[in-house]
Amino acid sequence: MHKNRFSRVGFILAAAGSAVGLGNIWKFPYIAGDNGGGIFVLVYLATVVLIGMSIFIAEVFLGSNAHKDAVSTFEVLAPSEKKYWKYSGFMFLTGVFILSFYSVVIGWIFNYVVIAATDLPTNVTEAQSVFMNLLKEDTFTQLFYYTLAFSVIAYTISKGVKNGIERLNNILMPALIIILLIMLVYSMRLDGFFQAIQFMFYPNVEKFHSGSVLIAVGHAFFTLSLGMATIISYAASLDKNVNIVKASMIVVIMDTLIALVAGVIIFSIIFNAGEEPGQGAGLVFITLPAIFYQIGAIGNILAIAFFIALAFAAITSAISILEPTVMYLIERRKMSRKKATYSVAVVFYVLGIFALLSNTSSFSTLLTFGNKNLFDWFDFISASILLPIGGILVAIFVGYVLDKALLRKALLPYMSETVYKIWLFSIRVLAPVAITLIMLKEIGVIKI
Ligand code: TRP
Repeated sequence: MHKNRFSRVGFILAAAGSAVGLGNIWKFPYIAGDNGGGIFVLVYLATVVLIGMSIFIAEVFLGSNAHKDAVSTFEVLAPSEKKYWKYSGFMFLTGVFILSFYSVVIGWIFNYVVIAATDLPTNVTEAQSVFMNLLKEDTFTQLFYYTLAFSVIAYTISKGVKNGIERLNNILMPALIIILLIMLVYSMRLDGFFQAIQFMFYPNVEKFHSGSVLIAVGHAFFTLSLGMATIISYAASLDKNVNIVKASMIVVIMDTLIALVAGVIIFSIIFNAGEEPGQGAGLVFITLPAIFYQIGAIGNILAIAFFIALAFAAITSAISILEPTVMYLIERRKMSRKKATYSVAVVFYVLGIFALLSNTSSFSTLLTFGNKNLFDWFDFISASILLPIGGILVAIFVGYVLDKALLRKALLPYMSETVYKIWLFSIRVLAPVAITLIMLKEIGVIKI
């Protein structure tokens, strides 16, 4: 079925392309800022190391063992409980929620590539009004770039992941890393650099509230693309005899480093300009453009490069969010890739429009429910609820349902007995228990 499988490097790049996205460069800095920095970053790092890494390995193991779409993977590996595991398809729903707000943000980024090339706002106040105007008033521009972004995503998927994306990732991932390194060097020369390091790594309890833990844990899943079958689907195209433990570790480390570097860069620039770190979703779209302007001509080039890199990082992730559903339709419903892509894309596209409209001043009242508008609800429901649930399911499946002999045979060549035991503990106990407790606490069922 998979004639052209990923090579080891191809898989690592594709998985890293999926993992490294808006989560690292847009979302992580702003939620770290909103939740007080230090402690939040620590909880996030701890979750990545203790839980995220284990589940990542588990998902790669599942995919590379079954070589099937996500739902078939669960069914094939646990034939006696097939009738329950078909519900693992709820993960596709998670993808709908994620992509609908994700592609709205890609639309903003497209618009900012143009802004970077034509007229950058000259200071933070002006930048603020440019962004707020786009978000709240300029529905047409938003819709235009959103549609453009979505067309690019759908078109690329319709062309197949391996030929298009693998090649694209080959160029764009190194480009992204180079741009970030240049910006890191730049930010190290700023007076705000030290303050940024302190903010990110020194525990500050003030802004850290009870909900922050769930946001940090949810983000660990989000940034690693876990809990919604993306990694399972990618690993389905992975050759046997690849060291899946090492490959997983490389992706997880890359993803984490890029998030930290992006955070350091952005906070250095922000502190240097005397700005506040807790600015919400506008962080990258408000402060950065103004600073780019102040750097002068090179700033313009940096700004264009930055937003283009961000766009491509986001597109390689967006594709990986659609892919599991498309793969399912191709394999189970025998659709052509084109048809599968466009049927899924239409649904995602329409839902995204509601997310987009919920930010505008004309529709925000209509599309706000409780304390969040639809855009924020999609973000919250997917990242903080559905992804952790998907993660728990994977953990329970691999930890309890799967045949232990199969697990040992697949993993012991790549990890020592002790590491295997630790990994299994993480999968069987730590991940399900910790995540369940955190979620129950957040919805108020229990108090810890
Ligand atoms: N990891 C990506 C990011 O950080 C987003 C992403 C891609 C994702 N595929 C996913 C998140 C699957 C959850 C599940 O931007």
